[in-house]
Amino acid sequence: MSAATGAAPATATPRWRRTNTCGSLRDTDANRTVVLNGWVHRRRDHGGLIFIDLRDRYGLTQVVCNPETSPQAHQVVADARPEYVLAVEGTVALRPEGTENPNLDTGAIEVLASAVEVLSAAQTPPFYLHEEGSVDESLRLRYRYLDLRRPRMRDNLVLRHRIVKHMRDFLDARNFLDIETPIVTAATPEGARDYLVPSRLYPGQFYALPQSPQQFKQLLMVSGLDRYYQIARCFRDEDQRADRQPEFTQLDLEISFVQREDVMGLIEALYIELCERHSEMRLLSNPFRRLTYAEALERYGSDRPDLRFELPLTDISELAGATEVQVFRTVLANGGVVKALRVPGCGDYTRRRLDELVDLAKQFGAKGLVWLVVGEQDVRASIRRYLRDGEVAALLEATEAVPGDLILAVADQPAVANEVLARLRDEFGARLGLADPNVLAFCWIVDFPLLEWEADAGHWTFSHNPFCSPRPGEAQWLDTDPGRAVSNQYDLVLNGHEIGGGSIRIHQRALQERVFELMGYSAEQIERQFGHMLTAFEYGVPPHGGIAMGIDRFIAVLAGEDSIREVIAFPKNQAAADLLMQAPGPVSQGQLDEVHIAVRLPPDEQQP
Ligand code: AMO
Repeated sequence: MSAATGAAPATATPRWRRTNTCGSLRDTDANRTVVLNGWVHRRRDHGGLIFIDLRDRYGLTQVVCNPETSPQAHQVVADARPEYVLAVEGTVALRPEGTENPNLDTGAIEVLASAVEVLSAAQTPPFYLHEEGSVDESLRLRYRYLDLRRPRMRDNLVLRHRIVKHMRDFLDARNFLDIETPIVTAATPEGARDYLVPSRLYPGQFYALPQSPQQFKQLLMVSGLDRYYQIARCFRDEDQRADRQPEFTQLDLEISFVQREDVMGLIEALYIELCERHSEMRLLSNPFRRLTYAEALERYGSDRPDLRFELPLTDISELAGATEVQVFRTVLANGGVVKALRVPGCGDYTRRRLDELVDLAKQFGAKGLVWLVVGEQDVRASIRRYLRDGEVAALLEATEAVPGDLILAVADQPAVANEVLARLRDEFGARLGLADPNVLAFCWIVDFPLLEWEADAGHWTFSHNPFCSPRPGEAQWLDTDPGRAVSNQYDLVLNGHEIGGGSIRIHQRALQERVFELMGYSAEQIERQFGHMLTAFEYGVPPHGGIAMGIDRFIAVLAGEDSIREVIAFPKNQAAADLLMQAPGPVSQGQLDEVHIAVRLPPDEQQP
């Protein structure tokens, strides 16, 4: 059937093969005969003339169909609706003066259609593709292939491609080998839950998807491959957030015979190049700022501070302890701290807004929030009547407050006080417009504690991963005071996101065994789970270290997106479901039998 009836041919014949993309024609192409293939982005019917914006990955071209000169083209296009796929044959013409579109690369020209073929008809899409706006995310994810037609999504994927390509070229030029490691393998601990894969051949046994290629990359160093990298997919069954996905991508690398400065220097050089080449945003500091873990917590309450703005916290424990405020004294007596955040210019907050802040702090985990409003003459405060004038003055001095400021203070265990104030700091960074969207604030965090005490479990746990080594001279603490040992870990933070982390590794069997013991592993568990690593360490192991950079998070920041879902072609939603492929989903009894699995549902999931 002919195209004029709207029925699509099975395939595009050679006649309809495109000579150009929809983003390529310029005024210098005037008078050329061209064929374009693309989607109907928009159609405007001006009575006589019909205008089509034809879209493909490369751009938009305006096509004009004139019933006088080409009745066939006009008739086909009259029936074409948005998202129809067309082949258009025509002549490139300069747009009439005054109708050029400077915002479009092809805005100087239009194509006067001589013939049009419908390659594929389309139903009305479930959401408009030519309008940026708030489309329900579930709908977008269910019809992701349509969502990805939108320029914003296309641009994000193009940016992602360019960044990853640049990473590969950079590392290739420095002698790194791209080596693949298994996806179906054994568990490697990175602190999350594993995704398990039942084995058909070994009843009752399971593979795990890697949380990272950590052990493999270390073993590649034992193999003498010296410099490894991989754009690696990692799988972690953990609660979802805007910057977390159950599967995500790392630039993973490992190097033999290095110190931490070597790894950090390499990554810093790469990321500066990436930002300068692929972003218009401004680097706040070059070289990157560097903070110890202790400094970061002390000053910003977080080990991933957003340094686009300062808003530092002040430890006012000493001052607070000298007051009559009972809650301060009790908290301090129990090993807590009192810390304060000075918010410039918010001294005009009404009582209602202050109460809202108290509620917000409680949502963040605080038991309460103390506020002081600094006026020209006096200071209003939630605890004003318990404070002597001299104490108020000392507080203002310690926090460097001036009239017009608001001071917020939290008294609690250090972890809680820091967490609450760090979140309030972020909140005010946003409210006051301090977090400049055009600035990239990188910062290294170093000197983490090697181990953290897990009170519930009654043993230590790793703060990075169990393979991280102590800093030179720090291993001595493992036998006397393990919590004091400082590690060889380094994290890279960008605008409040942890975008990478790595360490110099343990490469001595005895030290690795000691760390596993402190983490509560029995000798039998160590042998079963890590025997292969410990054995490998007995066959000549180079000192080595590396890092893994979260690619999704970095691209999201560069693309100005709030969620990493916007820079992943086919992400899961916030409940870890794949709405497009309908995963997870049930499988047949036959498949379950094959892998020796019997399903026992929790009571509230059972069918009546
Ligand atoms: P780590 O667990 O710190 O280290 O991960 C490295 C980086 O990966 C990113 N990332 C994530 N991105 C999206 N979704 C997630 N669920 C997610 N989890 C982590 C972060 C993080 O900084 N093997 C070690 C690295 C090493 O020591 O070399 C590791 O995986 O940006």
